[in-house]
Amino acid sequence: MAGTQVNTAVEETLDPDDWAELRALGHQMVDDLLDYLRTVRERPVWRPIPAELRARFRVPAPRAPEGAERAYHDFREHVLPHPMGNIHPRFWGWVIGTGTPFGALAEMLAAGMNPNMGGGDHLPNQVEAQVLDWCKEMLGYPATASGVLVSGGSMANLVGLAVARHARAGFDVRSKGVRHAAGPLTVYGSSEMHSSVRKAVELLGLGSEALRLVPVTSEFELDLSALERMIAEDRAAGCQPICVVGNAGTVNTGAFDDLGVIAALCQRERLWFHVDGAFGALAALVPEYQGRLAPMAMADSLAFDLHKWMYLPFEAGCTLVRDADTHRRTFSLTPDYLAHAERGLAAGELWFSDYGIQLSRGFRALKVWMSFKEHGLDKYARLIRQNIEQARYLAGLVRNAPDLELMAPVPLNIVCFRYRAAGCDDTTLDALNQELLIQLHEQGIAVPSNALLGGRFALRVAIVNHRSRREDFDLLVGEVRRIGKELRESEK
Ligand SMILES: Cc1ncc(COP(=O)(O)O)c(C=O)c1O
Repeated sequence: MAGTQVNTAVEETLDPDDWAELRALGHQMVDDLLDYLRTVRERPVWRPIPAELRARFRVPAPRAPEGAERAYHDFREHVLPHPMGNIHPRFWGWVIGTGTPFGALAEMLAAGMNPNMGGGDHLPNQVEAQVLDWCKEMLGYPATASGVLVSGGSMANLVGLAVARHARAGFDVRSKGVRHAAGPLTVYGSSEMHSSVRKAVELLGLGSEALRLVPVTSEFELDLSALERMIAEDRAAGCQPICVVGNAGTVNTGAFDDLGVIAALCQRERLWFHVDGAFGALAALVPEYQGRLAPMAMADSLAFDLHKWMYLPFEAGCTLVRDADTHRRTFSLTPDYLAHAERGLAAGELWFSDYGIQLSRGFRALKVWMSFKEHGLDKYARLIRQNIEQARYLAGLVRNAPDLELMAPVPLNIVCFRYRAAGCDDTTLDALNQELLIQLHEQGIAVPSNALLGGRFALRVAIVNHRSRREDFDLLVGEVRRIGKELRESEK
């Protein structure tokens, strides 16, 4: 019937008119990307963005098509040459991973398949479940635990602490809210704890005043007697302690808190034990660290990243929770339109939306799954150990240089040091090292970041980079000494 015929002239799609053309462009994109990754060592780590280039990014959104080729051309010409630098062998800033070529290709496949990982009975959910099982296995966490992949360590801490609040509030915090508590619900962790824990405490409505910062020892590890004292004082003052956060690798220096002692204390005090192992948890792959990290298995929840020390492309973090039921009860909310069915696509036991904040979720599991298969976990263990040995090597170079000073112990993969010169007080050295750090970035040599240790400014090298070689650390030390000397001489 003519009246019911579809008018193809007005029905549009975002698929290409010419698949062959897009295929050719796609091949070009893959070729260019692999060349870009292969040659990354030849380029500066970072370079400043020229003003005229910045201006290009201030124009209104296109209303008319510019086409895929144009879009890719603009990316290749203007975006690609100004990277953050974290894929470079001499990037050691903050704790930012490098990604891998195969991980990038896996991301393309995940985006192409484009499942919504909130729930339902489809194979991609099985992939995520298997990735979670593999993570439990590699970290020695109980196989019965639940878990969820999240965007990163910050979100992993938020999920863990949300379960802690739910489990230890002592009332139905989901319906009553924290205002129902008889006294402030308090959370404990060392003063070296990552800021994302504070963010989580704030978002959970506890208020950052309820986050008790426990002092650290000279090794930057949580002071256990201070922790016990603070909990007792808080209880006496009418507070309700709910959780202790243990660090498996602090952000500033890579220190490990004594997780076994904290676990025992939490059991005695009936507190939730959350471990932030953003990168340090992965050291469990290295036999020498397994003893120290074994008590992670006793944590009620464990947060870690795969985009840091498993070198995967952003974003990939994970929370594991010992008690799967408590985990699910913290988040599960099933309105009619999301009802889980017995059969069909809406069936299946795996609804990851019941274990976290997101409903719609991307297929971040695929790059993890494919990468673990690509290399096998032994290779990752070797790379993690390689980074630890590189940190020790760098610390040795620093110790042997009369004008450099190590600022903290090096228990893992982080080295904090500074340039020093005879006759300079700490304030002058702080300013000199701040300028030195900026020049390392601006000259495209290397990207360390900084740490404030005991109030003093330190250059901080955090090695979660599978491309770094020893010669990169030789170069870093040489350049730090050169720039330091130049700055010192320019002051005279
Ligand atoms: C110890 C620690 N916890 C949490 C985080 C936050 O992780 P993300 O940046 O993946 O959100 C970091 C980041 O460096 C970290 O070092």
